[in-house]
Amino acid sequence: MDRPYPPLALPLLLCLSLCLLHGERASAVTSGTGDGSELWGYVQVRPKAHLFWWYYKSPQRVSSPGKPWPTVLWLQGGPGASGVGLGNFLEVGPLDVNLKPRDSTWLHKADLIFVDNPVGVGYSYAEDPSVLVTTDWQAATDATELVKALAKEIPNLQSSPLFLVAESYGGKYAATLGVSLARAIRAGELKLTLGGVALGDSWISPEDFTLSYTPLLLDVSRLDDNAGDEATKKAATVKDQITAGQLADSQRSWVDLLNFIDKKSASVDMYNFLLDSGMDPVSVDLPAASSSSMSMSNTQAMKYSTYLGTQESDSGANTIDGIMNGVIKEKLKIIPKNIKWQELSDPVYNALVNDFMRPRINEVDELLSYGINVTVYNGQLDVICSTIGAEAWVKKLKWDGLKNFLSLPRQPLQCGSSKGTKAFVRSFKNLHFYWILGAGHFVPADQPCIALSMISSITQSPAS
Ligand SMILES: *[C@@H]1O[C@H](CO)[C@@H](O)[C@H](O)[C@H]1NC(C)=O
Repeated sequence: MDRPYPPLALPLLLCLSLCLLHGERASAVTSGTGDGSELWGYVQVRPKAHLFWWYYKSPQRVSSPGKPWPTVLWLQGGPGASGVGLGNFLEVGPLDVNLKPRDSTWLHKADLIFVDNPVGVGYSYAEDPSVLVTTDWQAATDATELVKALAKEIPNLQSSPLFLVAESYGGKYAATLGVSLARAIRAGELKLTLGGVALGDSWISPEDFTLSYTPLLLDVSRLDDNAGDEATKKAATVKDQITAGQLADSQRSWVDLLNFIDKKSASVDMYNFLLDSGMDPVSVDLPAASSSSMSMSNTQAMKYSTYLGTQESDSGANTIDGIMNGVIKEKLKIIPKNIKWQELSDPVYNALVNDFMRPRINEVDELLSYGINVTVYNGQLDVICSTIGAEAWVKKLKWDGLKNFLSLPRQPLQCGSSKGTKAFVRSFKNLHFYWILGAGHFVPADQPCIALSMISSITQSPAS
């Protein structure tokens, strides 16, 4: 690439030099394209803590009072992976990594907001490592400050239902942020409609996922019985430690289990059991794994680069690292010079060590109790956040519609002109579950057609 995208976009400084929003809480720097189709900026959500966001207005935007145009806020996993980079350029944004239009972009159905969340991820930054978040709830509190600022910075956001859509560890942010926003809205502190929360292959119950690995991998011939017995013991240790509240220990035991599975399965890809490790296109987006998670997430990043490298030699393609530290940074203009964009931030990952294994089922229950639409969607081939694990935590909900939900038949879904069942969906009241066939952990990357049609249904998009 030798020219920035888009070539004619003139950066328009809407608000520089720390515009103060709602008293002295958050300060914001906003920039964007001259035509208003894109806005981006920083919000200082706490002293020394700066979140970067990027908004795209849909060219298909139509809105009427009965059918408002929706906005999707994408929450990437990790913890520590960059939504502005990965979710945007590798999964659902308007351009792919070669800066070519993506046919299946979710922008056809909704306005999109990508966030480098929490502080310290991607272009977001902490002036001091001590301000990195150590719990999902701290992340949610920061992101709530961000959304409050965005409600003022982004025209139409207050009248556009906001959907939190998460992947992987991002599901823990979405559950806590959803509750936090719902409470702020109910308290009259935030003027916004929370349209719903969608949890894609989300790390909502680490215990249920951990216990699912062995039966799943035995069923699909990726482990044998002998290894299965040992893996079952290791999974039981993880569960016991979670129950005892030894969360950092349980994470270490979980990593031990992953390493054992890796060895006994000839390195099954935990993001897609049909593949070997590192072959999955977006596999840096963890939950990352290791006792010194540093080395493992670096290993993951390396596998990821290897995958891209393969594509690169085929087609002369860009790398995500290359564009995020090159043309994209140049286009955005406001990224501080000393920030090196990384796919995954190890300090952010490490700072959450005491919350990584904590479940967020109660938060999902709270969302359901408020009548907020909750969608769970899961790729059939995922291991790390497997479908049977997701079904197991859903069964633990205290929500009074659960029994009815579980008793209902599923509806098969097809997509576009291609033959064959692509997904099943089941809905009762405000809980919806999509089983996405032929997809691993990264559903929109693996099955873009059905992912797009699902997001259209979730958001009730008025797009034709
Ligand atoms: C929940 O989603 C359904 C469609 O799936 C929609 O009809 C309903 O209005 C939504 N409810 C809320 C409270 O947004």
